[in-house]
Amino acid sequence: MKVHDLVIVGAGLAGMRAALAALEAHPHLDVAILSKVHPVRSHSVAAQGGINAALGEQDSWEAHAFDTAKGGQYLGDQDAIEALCREAPDAILDLERLGVIFSRDEQGRIAQRPFGGSGAVRTCYAADRTGHAILHALYEQLLKRQVCVYEEWYVTSLIVEEGHCRGVIAWDLVRGGLHPVVGKATLLAAGGSGRVFSTSTNAVINTGDGMALAYRAGASLEDMEFVQFHPTTLKGTGILITEGARGEGAYLLNTLGDRFMARYAPDQMELAPRSTVSLAIGREILEGRGMDGCILLDLRHLGRAKIQERLPQIRQLAIEFAGVDPVESPIPVQPGAHYQMGGVKATQWGETELSGLYAAGECACVSVHGANRLGGNSLLETIVFGRRAGLRAAESLRGVAPRAISDHTLRAEERRIGRLMDHRGPERAWQVRDDLGRVMSLNLGIFRTKESMTEALGQVRALQVRAAQVSLQDRGKVFNTDLIQALELQSLVDIAETIVAGALAREESRGAHYRSDFPARNDAAWLKHSLARRTPQGPSLSYIPVTITRFPPK
Ligand code: FUM
Repeated sequence: MKVHDLVIVGAGLAGMRAALAALEAHPHLDVAILSKVHPVRSHSVAAQGGINAALGEQDSWEAHAFDTAKGGQYLGDQDAIEALCREAPDAILDLERLGVIFSRDEQGRIAQRPFGGSGAVRTCYAADRTGHAILHALYEQLLKRQVCVYEEWYVTSLIVEEGHCRGVIAWDLVRGGLHPVVGKATLLAAGGSGRVFSTSTNAVINTGDGMALAYRAGASLEDMEFVQFHPTTLKGTGILITEGARGEGAYLLNTLGDRFMARYAPDQMELAPRSTVSLAIGREILEGRGMDGCILLDLRHLGRAKIQERLPQIRQLAIEFAGVDPVESPIPVQPGAHYQMGGVKATQWGETELSGLYAAGECACVSVHGANRLGGNSLLETIVFGRRAGLRAAESLRGVAPRAISDHTLRAEERRIGRLMDHRGPERAWQVRDDLGRVMSLNLGIFRTKESMTEALGQVRALQVRAAQVSLQDRGKVFNTDLIQALELQSLVDIAETIVAGALAREESRGAHYRSDFPARNDAAWLKHSLARRTPQGPSLSYIPVTITRFPPK
């Protein structure tokens, strides 16, 4: 058995920031991080366009907070939004001190670019590799502080005894075998669930494991129906083509050569909030002005030098994965699942409903993004709320003595994994996963209706049954990715069910949740958060109010 003070699940930006914050405040704490991949392979590395903070003299945290609340269609909790935006400038300067090399402007200050839904030029960046720059700098700090990292350990369940989370059970991928990793506090920072959908910017590892762990342990998931579709992902692959391209001046064109955003958002054009741009693209494609399910992103007028300086990665990706050099031709793009606004219900300090369990980053719902996240606010969320959750979790340990745990959870997990290993049958995890992605993309995409979602709910429930019957082709212990895929599938089907249930119940359109059968926002009935709790019959839904402080819904 491994024993630590604080056990963190996930080594992306939220998890690493939490670990560093805990250690800054309490240097003698024993902090461990578990990650199913090597830390610098965490999905945070793929973040491209930037991180928001009101640094400029023309900007203010209040303006940032207003844009965030408005962009989220007033579903974000405004006390949390205020904390996010107020702490943003210091969070950026902290990152710089920790070694992050941001791009600079002509005066040598941290450069900022325009992003969608923002009233100011507010997005700090490192070319189009911002996540990469931050993740590597934080990883260096982890190494410097010799934080214990369980690399390639997959967490299969939380240990909950007497209503308190006491750590996790994890499978050691390299050697095989289940181990309890006990902590006085446990912090989930395990990222998003974009792989519920077939077209997604998310890494294949983004299977909603953190959300599913908390959900199975009895915690509520909040606002799961709100899944953001990024307007511009590369044709065929779903690889992110950053909003930073439009921030630098790229146009969206339909096959008639029209800059069609003039019809949907004449003032903001390509820099309207993401939900507006994705809906506009969806509409153009639906009405026959797309090509192969795509529209075109034109960067040519920016010129080779600017593309090479500010957007080198997306140029390379477009060349390698679509055979298109954006210096010479427009890039074919389509909307794809990008970000889960919902997640484990958590306070501004990462506390969840389960004693001893904290959550931060995309797997949590502190509720700052509401119904539609602004680009550049996700990296910020990981840093601000990762830090806060790390601090609060560390404080909670003061005076807490280590406790022995029973071996009940371990034995239950051993039986579960044993059954999976022994099961024989034709069902394969990858097939179920493919089918799930198709069902969700087809029925729960940019446009949703009661019919499409009812169809999806039936299919997802059938897929849950199939997921429970998958059979492994690899029955070995060493680096058994077949086993991990089967376990990830359990997370995917459970998370998908909460998305569909929440979306079917919400009879309005708001941000990323657009219902063709209820096209208007309905504040009178639906300005409220949904909570999904697990029951044997599926998610049980309830609702709680939204916190409004200074920005009344308009
Ligand atoms: O387009 C992008 O670079 C994505 C940024 C974000 O989701 O925050």
